[in-house]
Amino acid sequence: MDRNLALEFVRVTEAAALASARWVGRGEEKTADAAAVDAMRKAFDVIRMDGTVVIGEGERDEAPMLYIGEKVGHKTEDAPALDIALDPLEGTTICATGGPGSISVIAVAEQGKFLHAPDTYMDKIACGPAARGKIDIDKSATENIKAVAQALNKPVSEVTVVILNRPRHEALIAEARKTGARINLIGDGDVSAAVAAAWEDSGIDLLLGIGGAPEGVISAAAMQCLGGDFQGRLKFRNEEEKARAKRMGLSDPDKKFTIDELASGSVMFIATGVTDGSLLKGVRFLGNGIAKTHSIVMRSATGTIRTIEAQHDLERKPKH
Ligand code: FBP
Repeated sequence: MDRNLALEFVRVTEAAALASARWVGRGEEKTADAAAVDAMRKAFDVIRMDGTVVIGEGERDEAPMLYIGEKVGHKTEDAPALDIALDPLEGTTICATGGPGSISVIAVAEQGKFLHAPDTYMDKIACGPAARGKIDIDKSATENIKAVAQALNKPVSEVTVVILNRPRHEALIAEARKTGARINLIGDGDVSAAVAAAWEDSGIDLLLGIGGAPEGVISAAAMQCLGGDFQGRLKFRNEEEKARAKRMGLSDPDKKFTIDELASGSVMFIATGVTDGSLLKGVRFLGNGIAKTHSIVMRSATGTIRTIEAQHDLERKPKH
C-alpha cells in the first residue's frame, strides 16, 4: 500500500474532527455524529483509491452515508483497491458531553484483510508489545492480568486495566479488583482505550471487556501497527444478530478471533482527537478562523508512528 496514502487519510479524520468539535458539550449526539460523517464522506472524495467501506455507520438501509459496502474515493484506472473501517466520531456521548477521549478514526487495509464484523458486541482483550502472544481471551481476567504483569516485569498491583463502566462488567470489574490491579473505568471509547494499552507511557497496560464489534476491528488494526495484541469474540444480543453474522460470511460466529483474523496484511490506522484525551489533544479553535488538530498516523508495514499537529486556516480550506 502506498505509504503516502497515510498522510492523505489524516486529512479525512482531521475534517471529521473539525466538524464534530463544533458540537462538543452541546448535548446533541446525533448532530455531532452527522457533522463528522458528512465531513469524512466529502474528504474521501479527493483521495485516489477504489475504496469500500467494510466497517461503517451501519447497513445501507440504516445509514445515509458511509454505510457498509459504500464505495468511497476518487477511482481511477490504477487506483488501489482498499477496504476502509471507520468511525467518524468514536465516542459520540463523550463529544456531546465534552468528556475526555472522543476521536475520529479510520483504519485501512488491502481488500479482504479486515473481518467483516457485524454491528454487534465483542468481548475484547488488548495489550502492548511486551505481552503479545501471552494473553488469551479464553483465560480468566485474573490469569491475563498476571500474564501481563509478568511480561512487563512488574507486580500485579502496578498493572492498570481499562474497562468500560457498564453493568454487564460487574463480575469482571470485581474479579479484576480482586487481583489487586489498578482499574480505570471509562464511560465510552474503547478504541482509544485499546490504543492506550499498547502506547508506551499511557499508564494503561490491558483492556478487558465487551464493547462494539466494529470498534474491535479498528482496534485490532491499531494493535497491528503498534505491535500489540488483540483478541475478540462476538457477543450477540439475539439469534437474529447471529444469523446476520452468518449471512455476512462468518461460518463460525462464536469463535475466538485473533488479531490476524481481525486485521491483517499492510494496515494503516489514523485518528484525530475531537476532545482532549490521554493520547490526543482535542480540536482547538484559536480565533481568527484558525483551528489546531492533533492526530496519529500509523502503518503496520514499517511500525512508524507519526503524531501530527496541524494548524488549519478554516477560511482558506477548500469546502470540497
Ligand atoms: P459510539 O461512538 O458509537 O457512541 O461508541 C462509543 C462506545 O463506547 C465504543 O467505544 C464502545 O465499543 C461501545 O460504545 C460500547 O457500547 P455500549 O455503549 O452499548 O456499551
